[in-house]
Amino acid sequence: MLQVNLENYKMNLKFWEAAWQRVTKAVYTPPNLEYIKNIIPDLKKYPITKILDLACGSGWLSFMLAKAGFKVRGVDTSEAAINLAKKGNAEIEVREQCLDVEFYCADILDMQLTEKDFDCVIMNACLEHFDLASAAQLLANLKKHLKPQAYIYGVFDVVATSNKGEFICFDDGTRQYLDPMRKGMYLRNYSDEDLTRLFTEAGFKQLSYTTVDNGSRVLILERSLHSVQ
Ligand SMILES: C[S@@+](CC[C@H](N)C(=O)[O-])C[C@H]1O[C@@H](n2cnc3c(N)ncnc32)[C@H](O)[C@@H]1O
Repeated sequence: MLQVNLENYKMNLKFWEAAWQRVTKAVYTPPNLEYIKNIIPDLKKYPITKILDLACGSGWLSFMLAKAGFKVRGVDTSEAAINLAKKGNAEIEVREQCLDVEFYCADILDMQLTEKDFDCVIMNACLEHFDLASAAQLLANLKKHLKPQAYIYGVFDVVATSNKGEFICFDDGTRQYLDPMRKGMYLRNYSDEDLTRLFTEAGFKQLSYTTVDNGSRVLILERSLHSVQ
């Protein structure tokens, strides 16, 4: 039996910092994928104005949302990623329009944001980098940043299905890679059942569940009224 511990978790965070430090040219524009094009129209169906972009990386999703008129705050553990996002924002502000977007460096498991008035949380390729217990903790903690009526928009990729690479596997199914380029990185494949259970237990009600071309699951969830504390 191999259980995740704090040292493993810290190695994962170290991996991300090192990975982002290697990036010399950040991506600030959205990938040309059908399901990405659906995000803005999907969000506009709901009364949403302010969005928290979890694990925002260098910020392409935050910029896409801010350009569509949402107020956006992006959070990522990597200082290098956040610096790239801030640099991108400076460039975008000068080139195009002044966006209502800000970036913070923090571990999203332990966010101390002063802003607690988000009506949506978006997570793209985020939960897959958390072990199961941490994912449950993350979702439970989210509520303190949300308005009573709030939504989650999540994209969950199918990952870690091949045995390529060197890794250890914890008993909750999370892998931690050991090969040089990914040393320390966590990857866990969340099944449909895992996602349904995690969000239900955290007090979010599923509004839609779509599987897109590449197998990723796109979920829209609403904070259940009975879970308001
Ligand atoms: C696969 S990237 C996805 C980035 C972005 N959401 C996107 O769609 O391009 C995963 C991101 O999660 C961030 N991350 C991993 N663990 C984190 C944590 N505990 N707190 C905040 N960010 C984290 C990494 O730094 C990285 O930017």
